[in-house]
Amino acid sequence: MHSWRLWTLAAVAGFAVFFSTVAGYGQMPVPPDITFKQTKDFTPTVFSHKIHAAKNPDCTACHPQIFPMKAGGTLEGKPIPLADMMAGKYCGTCHNGQKAFLMTDCVKCHPPKK
Ligand code: HEC
Ligand code: HEC
Ligand code: HEC
Repeated sequence: MHSWRLWTLAAVAGFAVFFSTVAGYGQMPVPPDITFKQTKDFTPTVFSHKIHAAKNPDCTACHPQIFPMKAGGTLEGKPIPLADMMAGKYCGTCHNGQKAFLMTDCVKCHPPKK
């Protein structure tokens, strides 16, 4: 087989994989809870994909613009600054009192120690 044919085949196969991945975005299984535990003076925050997907099944509401699809991937694992969230970034994109409860409702995300 001529090498250009091989390249064409490889390109077609590559596109097929790419598009099936993109098309499959919506059908991807909902991942388990993710715990953000770098908050020193407050309790860790559990992020539930299940609860959020029940409100809005559109994965692109968060991925990849607001959060990478990788546990610990946001800010390459550095703590997410509260000030940024208060300013409407990360969780604060929605937790602004309009789409969801306000960022000032601390205990909803940092439940008191038992
Ligand atoms: C409300 C925001 C939000 C929505 C909507 C959302 N995710 Fe996520 N997702 C996150 C956050 C936050 C993380 C963790 C990022 C981090 O730890 O830095 C994450 C991480 C992930 C991961 C990585 C898990 C791991 O263990 O590495 C996958 C896979 C993922 N999401 C898939 C999905 C899919 C599929 C959907 C749609 C059904 C979805 N997400 C919808 C916020 C969201
Ligand atoms: C919508 C959920 C949510 C709410 C509401 C919330 N937090 Fe957080 N907070 C988080 C997440 C997620 C992190 C990131 C932790 C990490 O990166 O491991 C965090 C991080 C922090 C940090 C460490 C980062 C920093 O800036 O020093 C502190 C302190 C903190 N929160 C305090 C608070 C206080 C005080 C309130 C109320 C005024 C509050 N949080 C409200 C989810 C929330
Ligand atoms: C795309 C919008 C969006 C983003 C981004 C988002 N949330 Fe939410 N979240 C919602 C909505 C909508 C609800 C349900 C309405 C409400 O409770 O106000 C909710 C509810 C919650 C709840 C209450 C769950 C329960 O037990 O009912 C917690 C805790 C929470 N979010 C934490 C987070 C954390 C932590 C982040 C960031 C890692 C985050 N959310 C990012 C939209 C979002």
